[in-house]
Amino acid sequence: MMSGQISESKINEVREQTDIVELISQYVSLKRSGANYTGLCPFHSEKSPSFSVNSARQFFHCFGCGVGGDVFSFLMKTEGLAFPDAVRRLAERVGIELEEHIPSPEEEMRERQRERLYRVNEVAADYFHQMLMENPAGDPARQYMKVRGYGRKAAGEYQIGFALDSWDGLKKHLEEQGLAATDARTLGLIRPGKQDRGDYDLFRGRVIFPVYDLSGRIVAFAGRVLDDSKPKYINSPESPIYHKGRVLFGLYQARQAMRQSGEVLLVEGYFDQLALYRAGFPQVVATCGTALTSDHARLLKRYVQRVVLLFDQDAAGKKATFKAMTVLQEEGVPAAVIELPNGEDPDSFIQGEGAEAFRDRLEKARSVMDLFMDDILAEAGNGIEQKVRAAEQIVEQISGLSSELEQGLYLKELAQRSGIDLEQLKQVNKKAMGRVQQPKKLNYSAPHLSEDYPSPGATFTKRGRENSAAPGRQIEAKPEWSRSEETLLCLLLQNHVSSKKIITAGGLDLFTHQVARDIAQILLDNSTDSGLDIESFIGKLDPDKVRLLTALSIHDQGQFSENIDALFTGCLNALQRERNKRQRGELREEIRRSELAGNQEQVKKLLEQFKNLK
Ligand code: GTP
Ligand code: MN
Repeated sequence: MMSGQISESKINEVREQTDIVELISQYVSLKRSGANYTGLCPFHSEKSPSFSVNSARQFFHCFGCGVGGDVFSFLMKTEGLAFPDAVRRLAERVGIELEEHIPSPEEEMRERQRERLYRVNEVAADYFHQMLMENPAGDPARQYMKVRGYGRKAAGEYQIGFALDSWDGLKKHLEEQGLAATDARTLGLIRPGKQDRGDYDLFRGRVIFPVYDLSGRIVAFAGRVLDDSKPKYINSPESPIYHKGRVLFGLYQARQAMRQSGEVLLVEGYFDQLALYRAGFPQVVATCGTALTSDHARLLKRYVQRVVLLFDQDAAGKKATFKAMTVLQEEGVPAAVIELPNGEDPDSFIQGEGAEAFRDRLEKARSVMDLFMDDILAEAGNGIEQKVRAAEQIVEQISGLSSELEQGLYLKELAQRSGIDLEQLKQVNKKAMGRVQQPKKLNYSAPHLSEDYPSPGATFTKRGRENSAAPGRQIEAKPEWSRSEETLLCLLLQNHVSSKKIITAGGLDLFTHQVARDIAQILLDNSTDSGLDIESFIGKLDPDKVRLLTALSIHDQGQFSENIDALFTGCLNALQRERNKRQRGELREEIRRSELAGNQEQVKKLLEQFKNLK
């Protein structure tokens, strides 16, 4: 796939050419009702239709869950695409050629390499699968899978495979297919032998699970031994097409069900994912042998309103649960937890107790915060000091919740359970909020964007990255501008707030810090009625500016998703206060000078001004 920036006019062209009713009809059965079309909302589950499509104005809206937007947002939501990819997809549909950025030779090389890597994985997956399904030497693996409850059909559905217990089965196969050993090495499928021994296969004598990305391409594999030997699992290493912190096992298959149910079950193991999927809970994904990352959380947020955690019932599992809770909380995703009997994992539970028993547990899933509270309080026991410390720890966690109502409820609960006075807890919470409410720090080092899940700003940031410092170069500290200045710049840059509004509010004068002012000037100068066409001017900027703009543009988009107006007003107020302070400082200085010069008239006038400012 090509990558690069798409011009605003092309985007508009694609939007205009796409028939929103026709597009949405592919996902939702629509009925005409007056000027509009209505149907069952694909984004939340409902019995009577509150989803409406306006063909004249080319947008959709659900009166039930409140989502709405244009053809692009519809596709982004249903297919989990980033903005540029949604544009590309629709452009293809209506036959519009996107004049995209012409890639440099290096970019083309990287792109070709990625294509080759996908191809190698595909060939390898076919090979592994073939070994499991047909090869006589695959017998032990077939036996193993049978014991775990998987016959031919299931193995076929999931493309499960088997790596023979041989040093070079895959290596030879890839050679026969004329595929380059270097690519297989880059993927870690083949490892370089020591001294003059030849390369050898990474996966030997293991059942193989392919890991897909959101486009259904195989990016990695996991392999399990057939017995109790160690290590139980090995995984493909990271590669240009695989970043384990951004990939979830099963997401490709689960996303539709996730969207429909609005939730995702998050498990640890590959077999857990398969077991739940088969048992009638297709909204399930697994982390690939890694802790949940905020990239994962953001990815899940595209599809669901809540995450149900199902980690192991041991100390490590608890720890992972609470860590995931924090990560999800930071992204504003509610998290619940299902507890299973000791020693069970989802796979063994389903095998032993069946799907209904699991459904029962799912219905009784409780919030992670609830579990956290129980856990920490139980651990603390009854000693006053321990209890206080436990309460502090819990409040710290509560203070990170995005909803104040929710905070209130948990504080009440905590007061009840701990016997500590509610008002006191509220005080502590307030203090803790002051600490945690700092917006996330921008990453001012060379940005590292996911190739698979670019953020909406990616068309711009990709270009920015080219112009900016070499990858890996650490950039000095971020400018000392105020948080409000930074936020305002983000809002402007990301088109959340128009330049008109900023000019009306004071324009450049709002910005105190010289660098912020420079950036603001650039953005205001280049704004047009239709927004900001970054591509049109970024090429002319010096690398430092480009770097700052890039950092600003990848500032977490989700952070601004709600209540832009309130945020904007808040920034203006804060900046107004800062400006006031600055002007007062200047006046004070001037008054001092006038006094020294004996200019009483002037002093009086300035004092008056000073009073007015206050
Ligand atoms: P089964 O025994 O096959 O049911 O696996 P499990 O998923 O129940 O295993 P366990 O609870 O021990 O581990 C959970 C997950 O952690 C696994 O699915 C793997 O992703 C990962 N994992 C477990 N053991 C290893 C290991 O030895 N190496 C690595 N890299 N990952 C492991
Ligand atoms: Mn297991």
